[in-house]
Amino acid sequence: MKPCCNCATCRSYLSLSWAHQFPNLCDWYTHLLRASPSGTIHVHVLRNTITCNPDNVEYILKTRFDNYPKGKQFSALLGDLLGRGIFNVDGDSWKFQRKMASLEISSVANRSYALEIVTEEIVTRLVPLLASSNGAGRGGVLDLQDILRRFSFDNICRFSFGLDPGCLEADLPTSTFADAFDRASKLSAERAMMASPIIWRIKRFLNIGSERKLKEAIKVVDDLAEEMIRQSRETMGFSARKDLLARFMNSVNDDKYLRDIVVSFLLAGRDTVAAGLTGFFSLLSNHPRVESLIREELDRVMDPGQEVARYDQMRRMHYLNAAVHESMRLYPPVQFDSKFAVEDDVLPDGTFVGKGTRVTYHAYAMGRMERVWGSDCLEFKPERWIRDGVFVQQCPFKYPVFQAGLRVCLGKELALVEMKSVVAALVRRFDIRVVGGANQEPRFVPGLTATVRGGLPIEVRERRR
Ligand code: HEM
Repeated sequence: MKPCCNCATCRSYLSLSWAHQFPNLCDWYTHLLRASPSGTIHVHVLRNTITCNPDNVEYILKTRFDNYPKGKQFSALLGDLLGRGIFNVDGDSWKFQRKMASLEISSVANRSYALEIVTEEIVTRLVPLLASSNGAGRGGVLDLQDILRRFSFDNICRFSFGLDPGCLEADLPTSTFADAFDRASKLSAERAMMASPIIWRIKRFLNIGSERKLKEAIKVVDDLAEEMIRQSRETMGFSARKDLLARFMNSVNDDKYLRDIVVSFLLAGRDTVAAGLTGFFSLLSNHPRVESLIREELDRVMDPGQEVARYDQMRRMHYLNAAVHESMRLYPPVQFDSKFAVEDDVLPDGTFVGKGTRVTYHAYAMGRMERVWGSDCLEFKPERWIRDGVFVQQCPFKYPVFQAGLRVCLGKELALVEMKSVVAALVRRFDIRVVGGANQEPRFVPGLTATVRGGLPIEVRERRR
């Protein structure tokens, strides 16, 4: 591991010559990982060991969990936005929030509250918006990625704060909060792309450029969070609030800590769901056979004219579940995730990891490895998740889309319910086709979650039934 390195990988990384051949950095890494006999590579100049080997992933996320925390380097990048929120801490603070949050999230009351919110957003906003674009209405092309981001932001804000920003209202309004939150997460993620953290630290100290913008965006998020917490305190005991903020108030008294906890949930649950659905619809547009099989299942399980599926019905939709999992195998919303080694170590494939260096498992590359998924790994094939007509989970270390091990995503079940509800409602009622370029490989914007450059342009037609 060295700051200067002349190996072919580092030269290509620094000179950006990989970009002549590959649309995205993740595609280049996939290519290098495929060629590596161990499924592990080094980018020395980044002090980063990148792996797509499921044994290594299990080792990092479970067996030697204590040796691979998020680390101070990661926490510093998102620290101003997320503070001490669950997403950004290790040790006791993480354990406390994890315990408290998993109790709340897994409760039956909470699950039905989440489905209530999602159903309302689909019925009152998402479906009417797409229906109005049918034929003469809006006529033209819609950006499905933008619509899904608005959809998931409304949902996660209502779920976390009990606040409805109304981003998916018919006129697609600009929301100061959503904008500020977007800017804050984008600018925080961009810190990671600077050659050295000293650059952003100096800019922050001088309050100039991107750091000044970040500070302003965080101020908007803070003001709103403060106001929500104040209102929540006033109404505590008088109203039947079911959002996470109201629930966490029973165990946490410190308002800044409450703000941090809830903002972490916004970040974790917003763009991920939108990215998962964007990947799903871009694949479905090219796979009419899968679409027909989903429709057959929906017609079998749902009542005629029913718009949104119920929980008990979703549990019977094995093919839909398989298709949603399969789409995230190829287009994981979080393409890679890094940890920092506390002590020197050796991974199961024999790779040495130096103390303080970064280790990354690459979910995007893993979904595209023959040695992990077989020779048809590049095909969108929900059937690989089905045995005797029943959906069967795969090993989470081979499919770390929701991470795995001790820090596995807390919102996994909620996210899947949200995604399946949307797919069931839209696929049953509309034909959605990606305009132009459906066969083209997407280009992603660098950031914490997969965002397609230029959005996902679609045309919508109501189905005749
Ligand atoms: C398709 C949607 C989603 C995907 C692919 C996803 C994926 C992930 C991944 C990869 C992580 C690990 C991140 C890291 O530690 O660096 C994570 C953590 C987390 N996710 Fe999700 N997530 C999704 C939706 C959600 C939703 C909807 C919520 C909240 C309601 C949520 C809440 C969380 C939380 C709280 C953590 C932190 C867990 C911990 O550190 O112990 N996620 N998620």
